[in-house]
Amino acid sequence: MKAHRKLVFICTGSDCKKSGAKSLCNELKAELGHGSLKGTCQLIKTKCMDRCKSAPVAILDDHFFKKAKATHLLEKIKLSQK
Ligand code: FES
Repeated sequence: MKAHRKLVFICTGSDCKKSGAKSLCNELKAELGHGSLKGTCQLIKTKCMDRCKSAPVAILDDHFFKKAKATHLLEKIKLSQK
């Protein structure tokens, strides 16, 4: 049976873009494109999530990441794979 893909929502609204959302997306895309994490997640860019003071923001499972960093998201993804 094929494993369920995780959805990672990343805000690409203007404040999040200014705070590094684009590089966050690129880092995640690079990391999730190879190795054991390949094909496990789908990145979805969103419009403003109305949490601009915490930019850049991301949502993975039921967790909301303020000032999201690729390392934190990847750590969470890896933990959920076990
Ligand atoms: S721009 Fe990302 S939450 Fe508003």
